[in-house]
Amino acid sequence: HRPDALPRDLEGLRVVVSAGGTREPLDPVRYLGNRSSGKQGYALARTAAQRGAQVTLVSAHTLPLPEPAGVDVVRVGTAAQLRDAVHAAAGTADVVVMAAAVADFRPVSSAEFKIKKTDRDPAPIALTRTADVLAELVAARTAGLLPDWQVIVGFAAETGDSGADVLDHARAKLKRKGCDLLVVNAVGEGKAFETEDNAGWLLSAAGAERPIALGSKAQLASEVWDSVVELVQSSSR
Ligand code: CTP
Ligand code: CA
Repeated sequence: HRPDALPRDLEGLRVVVSAGGTREPLDPVRYLGNRSSGKQGYALARTAAQRGAQVTLVSAHTLPLPEPAGVDVVRVGTAAQLRDAVHAAAGTADVVVMAAAVADFRPVSSAEFKIKKTDRDPAPIALTRTADVLAELVAARTAGLLPDWQVIVGFAAETGDSGADVLDHARAKLKRKGCDLLVVNAVGEGKAFETEDNAGWLLSAAGAERPIALGSKAQLASEVWDSVVELVQSSSR
């Protein structure tokens, strides 16, 4: 993708992108984490900057990735730190894209010192819920604490199961979250995690459902920004 071949249609917009996977500490050396590589979020941030946006990338843990040029990177570890960084940046943002894999639960407490091995089986790890950042952003916008034109984008990695297929789960999640766009990755069979390619759907709160062809994460990023531009243009800013 040649940056000079991209439209400058995000010029004048402030965007926040979260990326990577959070890590919730158990003790000073151990954590509860996930397999997010951060590649999709970094591609979204890079493409937005190339299209003229002023970009803040809130980056949780990722594989080693080059920092996208012209992007302000804020590094975070835990879900709580990611929450604080996203809320701090969202106040003046036109668009927030939650591409990060945020832990749903964290250990209730983190030991001050390294947990030592003993002859006995350890006690179960007690977990507690983290805040849902995406849902909080939507609630804050509804409450008038964020610009009412702000476009809020969520991501969902879904598998089908015995009760419902990927799209059923995704439609329900879009409603539950209340965001404007939901980017749905169909996972399993080597898709999404730790790979270069994605496939899925782009669902809008207005009911539009666009398939996203299997392609690079940069390609998916372009399609997401195309949809965001449409929403920004149709909103009363
Ligand atoms: N998300 C968030 N804060 C969390 C968990 C998730 O902001 N504590 C965001 C993710 O960044 C993503 C969206 O919510 O944009 C959907 O995440 P997902 O894990 O698919 O949804 P959940 O509501 O956590 O549902 P579940 O994991 O049970 O499928
Ligand atoms: Ca989750």
